[in-house]
Amino acid sequence: ASLKFLNTFGIDVAADTLIEIDELDAFEAAISAHESADLLLLGSGSNVVFVAPPASVLRIVDESVSGTDMGNGQIRVSCAAGKSWHEFVMQTLENGWYGLENLALIPGTVGASPVQNIGAYGVEVMDRIAHVEAWDRRAGMPVTFMHDACEFSYRDSRFKHEPDRYFITRVEFNLSTQPQLVLDYAGIRDALTRAGVSEPTPVDVAQAVIRERLRKLPDPQVIGNAGSFFKNPILSDAFSEALAAKYPQMPTHPSGIEGTRKLSAAWLIEQSGMKGYTRGKAGVSDRHALVLVNHGGASGSEVLQVARDVAEAVEQKFGVPLHPEPRLIGGHW
Ligand code: FAD
Ligand code: EPU
Repeated sequence: ASLKFLNTFGIDVAADTLIEIDELDAFEAAISAHESADLLLLGSGSNVVFVAPPASVLRIVDESVSGTDMGNGQIRVSCAAGKSWHEFVMQTLENGWYGLENLALIPGTVGASPVQNIGAYGVEVMDRIAHVEAWDRRAGMPVTFMHDACEFSYRDSRFKHEPDRYFITRVEFNLSTQPQLVLDYAGIRDALTRAGVSEPTPVDVAQAVIRERLRKLPDPQVIGNAGSFFKNPILSDAFSEALAAKYPQMPTHPSGIEGTRKLSAAWLIEQSGMKGYTRGKAGVSDRHALVLVNHGGASGSEVLQVARDVAEAVEQKFGVPLHPEPRLIGGHW
């Protein structure tokens, strides 16, 4: 089965078998029938690079959603793994269940959202997750991870560390009928002002986020990419201050971890002269320096080669190592 349309980089590889499960009730039987050592769990492929093709691929396509009123404006929402993340966000907003508005238009599925703790515009999905339900393939049984057991941090969780062990089947979220807007991001406040909105609703925030994202990020339908290719580096206060003294224009942000700052990988890449860089059929987007792109027909190895060139340029100029955000399938960093 071709995976070309199951990865947003548009890398043209095929798997021997592609299994899709559309009802979680039938899940146990389906997974035990297909259990094998090299089974890749895939959502919609918006955070993977196929360096080599996987043998077998398993996907959940169940999209069921249900909400429970817990009183005091608190809503518990349970969503099956196969639901499109953006559709889920818009559906919660239509129901008047607030809390996910800053995460509008992030590609991918609900099931993958805890894997790298997706985040944007001042909110991370860990801020809203109550628990994650999964199938532990090693133990051959279902398991529920309460919030703290997921070991969430910036673009990370326990699921990212043990790929393909836990097949996430459902995610439960704590949402609220009372809006509590997160407007920390200057870009979102500016977008709301430009739209003439002075007292924003959660839907206004989602729309501002959508406009910002459309303006800034290249569309995978037009040019293959996986969003940010590198994580923003988190470095000690001492190192970032020394670098900021040398480069006063360099943006830094709080990291949420004491004694460290978060640097902007996009800025480091652009200042290293790599924005718009091309090698073979892959390259760095000329719209956003943190996004690597497939100019058409690139292989996963070509993308990885560009990533290495970019990381080397940044390391040489700034002494800062970059680490990929997407999962490299069949390849190593
Ligand atoms: P896939 O790419 O299919 O899989 C990603 C990883 O999760 C793999 O390791 C896979 O094995 C695992 N996985 C998938 N489903 C399951 C499951 N059910 N159980 C267990 N493991 C599973 N990310 C952000 O955080 N913030 C952003 O703002 C953002 N913007 C993006 C913009 C663009 C244009 C693109 C292309 C990507 C962006 N991303 C962003 C990355 C991507 O949207 C997220 O990582 C998303 O959660 C991936 O979902 P997916 O279903 O496509 O996962
Ligand atoms: N910048 C440049 N050159 C560019 C682009 C950006 O120098 O070509 C600099 C600017 O100074 C800009 C700064 O980089 O202010 C930050 O850029 P941006 O606001 O686009 O955010 P980012 O750090 O590149 C992060 C996430 C995104 C998320 C946005 C919004 C990571 C790795 N990326 O990007 O997530 O959508 O913030 O919150 O944390 C993803 O993970 O795939 C992703 C897209």
